Amino acid sequence: MALLEIIEAPDPRLKVVCETVETVDDDLRQFMDDMLETMYAAPGIGLSAPQVGDRRRVIVVDVSRDGETKRPLRMVNPEIVDTAGEPVMSEEGCLSFPEMFAEVERPSAVKIRYLDENSEPREIEADGLLATCIQHEIDHLDGVLFVDHIGTVRRNIILRKMKKVKRLKAREAA
Ligand code: NI
Repeated sequence: MALLEIIEAPDPRLKVVCETVETVDDDLRQFMDDMLETMYAAPGIGLSAPQVGDRRRVIVVDVSRDGETKRPLRMVNPEIVDTAGEPVMSEEGCLSFPEMFAEVERPSAVKIRYLDENSEPREIEADGLLATCIQHEIDHLDGVLFVDHIGTVRRNIILRKMKKVKRLKAREAA
């Protein structure tokens, strides 16, 4: 297991459209384990491959609470095949935007199709936090960030702050 470096916005690697996975092999299983370890350590509830500099369509998610049994999901080529319910607003953050949050509107319930770590096709229905989280992570696979769903004013505020943080970090490292 290894901790991966999480890319912080703004970064062109967060804007790539990822590629469909053809084969779920040991290399990919190891990568998903590393993604989960990285996500838990952050800590976070979801992580997508492009956030760690990889272009495969892979996400990991675990919305279990502290103290509960962990419920990790490893999703290969995830896609939303149906949505239901009224759109809901909920506050989202992102490991690529430390300490930034915004209200994002999304469908409240979704059906997702994906391959699991054994290459078995699966379909699940999700609502609440799990639905929000999975939609957020699938967005990443198409280079879409949560700030792309909010108003320009709020988005620019967040992006300006992120640029400033990056400048400060670069200066400290120099
Ligand atoms: Ni994110």
